Amino acid sequence: MSGGGDGGSEIRRLDEWNDDRLVALAEEYETPLYVVDRRRITENCARLRAAFPDADVRYAAKAHTGQPVLRSVREAGLGIECASAGEVERAFDAGFTGDRIQYTAVNPPDRDLDLVTARWREHPELTITVGAEDTVDRLRERGFDGRLCIRANPGVGAGHHEKVSTGANAKFGIPIERVADLAARWAEEFDLVGVHAHAGSGISGDDLSAHRELVSRMGDLCREIESRVGSLEFVDVGGGFGVPYREEEPPLDLEAVAEATREALGNLDATLSIEPGRYVVADAGVLLTTVNTVKRARDATVVGVDAGMTTLLRPAMYDAYHAIRNLSAPEDAEQIDATVAGPICESADVLCEHRSLSRPDRGDILAIGNAGAYGYEMSSTYNSRPRPAEVALSGTTVVLARRRETLTDLTALEQ
Ligand code: LLP
Repeated sequence: MSGGGDGGSEIRRLDEWNDDRLVALAEEYETPLYVVDRRRITENCARLRAAFPDADVRYAAKAHTGQPVLRSVREAGLGIECASAGEVERAFDAGFTGDRIQYTAVNPPDRDLDLVTARWREHPELTITVGAEDTVDRLRERGFDGRLCIRANPGVGAGHHEKVSTGANAKFGIPIERVADLAARWAEEFDLVGVHAHAGSGISGDDLSAHRELVSRMGDLCREIESRVGSLEFVDVGGGFGVPYREEEPPLDLEAVAEATREALGNLDATLSIEPGRYVVADAGVLLTTVNTVKRARDATVVGVDAGMTTLLRPAMYDAYHAIRNLSAPEDAEQIDATVAGPICESADVLCEHRSLSRPDRGDILAIGNAGAYGYEMSSTYNSRPRPAEVALSGTTVVLARRRETLTDLTALEQ
């Protein structure tokens, strides 16, 4: 799909952000600072809805749970997929109604089931997805007899890194060959509304074959359930739509994914559901950080910054690539071979290695791209580092969406 219309262009690259505005935000709110642009979220939602016009699109909240993000997603007409009781609470806070909320229970702690079933009593339109047989026993013990979805383990996975490939990982879902029998049994006791599977995170044009295979297995499963039990409301084939993290990578061809999905699914009464997280928020966010130290090392220049693995974990955890720009350097600045490292006492605390960067000076502001998805969400307070602040942009308006954590916040829970 080409750019234009409500959906904007297919990708917003780091150099398309307004440098002066980002620098001004860093000065006003200090760094490290996450910036999230609500308009871009709206555009991403619109492109998804346009590519999948007949599908129910649900946002996987785990990518970013900030209230301005959730509100933009809701206003754009998406539902929401929640991975915990906490995310369910945030969804209600953002104004999602129960019928738009799907809770996916992954080895759920009792506390989560208590809270979600209490919410279900007030909002019986809420859907609960189970990935283990005994989760159903635990729901039954809590009096639940509402809308149930079964998560299948389809035996096929995909993803940008082995750590995010879930479809064949024993941890997730019930082996697909057992699902139809369970569906027949559970349909008598619950309102069986759907089946679900998720291949993994970061589908690119290259692993469309895995996506196709997963969808086709889910289509077959659905038809078997339809013939034995009756129609399902939906078949949810998960999220995982990739975004180009590298500057030269092309954007995902959403139309091609949609086409492959429709083809692989075949004819069904059930409505298709998808649950993208990353695609909705990744390029709507940047992380701003200040250069603290510039040091000549043996084979590189180490640029020490105030954001690290506790701010953005993806490079340390998945060797993820994020574009980095020096916003303070002049256009014609000399390019150096830089390793950008954070303030945490861990070798893994490196945001990039041997990257060409406009020569940084102490005090310069660097921008890190595609930081909207799984950025703030995976931040931590390791090394007693308070979590960063986040601002949300709506056109020319800026709101402080999450204030910077303080050292007092960090010790507040100690007895
Ligand atoms: N649905 C389910 C059941 C999931 O487990 C996930 C992601 C999604 C949807 C959304 O996937 P997405 O569209 O965002 O790829 N922290 C990792 C990603 C972990 C994804 C976990 N599950 C990263 O930063 O790459």
